[in-house]
Amino acid sequence: MNTQEMIKLDQKYIIPTYAGKTIAFSHGKGCKIWDVEGKEYIDFLSGIAVSGLGHSHPKLVEAIKEQAEKLIHTSNLYLIPNQIELASILVENSFPGKCFFCNSGAEANEAAIKFARKYGQGRYEIITMSGSFHGRTYGALTATGQDKFHKGFEPLLPGFKYAEFNNIESVKNLITDKTCAILIEPVQGESGINPAKKEFLKQVRLLCDENDILLILDEVQCGMGRTGKLFAYEYYGITPDMVTLAKSLGGGVPIGAVIANEKVSSCISPGNHAATFGGNPLATKAAVVTLKTMLGDNLIDNAGKMGDYFKDKLNSLKSKYPFIKEVRGKGLMLGMEIAPVANGARGILLKCMEKGLLIGTAGENVLRFVPPLIVQKKEIDEGIKILEEVLTNLK
Ligand SMILES: Cc1ncc(COP(=O)(O)O)c(C=O)c1O
Repeated sequence: MNTQEMIKLDQKYIIPTYAGKTIAFSHGKGCKIWDVEGKEYIDFLSGIAVSGLGHSHPKLVEAIKEQAEKLIHTSNLYLIPNQIELASILVENSFPGKCFFCNSGAEANEAAIKFARKYGQGRYEIITMSGSFHGRTYGALTATGQDKFHKGFEPLLPGFKYAEFNNIESVKNLITDKTCAILIEPVQGESGINPAKKEFLKQVRLLCDENDILLILDEVQCGMGRTGKLFAYEYYGITPDMVTLAKSLGGGVPIGAVIANEKVSSCISPGNHAATFGGNPLATKAAVVTLKTMLGDNLIDNAGKMGDYFKDKLNSLKSKYPFIKEVRGKGLMLGMEIAPVANGARGILLKCMEKGLLIGTAGENVLRFVPPLIVQKKEIDEGIKILEEVLTNLK
């Protein structure tokens, strides 16, 4: 099937929740990916911050093959050794607690919302931030502090309040005797790569401690080494009560997780929550190998160093092109805000794609760069060269 035929059949059979699909990929290797017509691309989007080890990482491929030959799925009715190993690595590298496994970021946030309400014993309000994004299921959608995602789907879940991101007074003003949790992305992804201010998160932590409120950090996008630390919260000198993960956790195999500290996990009893596929042998094997490779092959350090290198390159572009308003982000989670130019950030993305570079957008005016954590200077240079060719022609 060629691309044109695929476009027709996609339009015929796929519910149009995504727009603008014009290419299909056949295979990838490292930071490169090839479409079905044989064209090569540098992949600085990683399937939206998912393929942390890049494409076809030999350790991940081998582990998935081996596990698939032995056993793909059993059930959480039985012990799952890979799941226990994954939970132990996550907990030993975060804070004392326990894990729950599911299949996506939205599901991880749903679980965290339920756990918070269970902890609250009747306190049910959750404060989230303007500009946040937590997923598309009803709890996660309601938690998302952006009206545009809510439109057409009301009534939403009761009990959510939206504070202004990075404004501690606004958070304080929303706390009541019904508040059980505050949910924050340490680096907001979908609204344009906006890191929380250090002082803000520290003060939120204090507020939570003073009022017996849980601090839940959504690290679905910014976690798993992407910012140059295994968890973005490590930059802030705080520890959350729960952290939610997905995206890079399985290196591309769907899996989500909640890590909850003892005070939260001890409130949960059998039957309170479940997921048929959650943490199955195949997905947890993929995650164990992904995590061990990130930790053992210094990929998190690499993300920090390459992130600095990438950011410097983007900043040199900023000094040349006045329509670049700001470069921001941490590690390999970078955003470049563009002033309104012809066809906006999406127009730049499409031109980069034509020239063999995959990037993303976040919000209206921000280009998003989330390359695999294995990326090297040479690939960054290649990608920046293409980006600059596109920007020069916008001048
Ligand atoms: C911070 C954050 N939370 C949650 C989600 C939802 O994850 P999923 O699409 O796996 O449900 C996303 C997805 O972009 C995200 O960026």
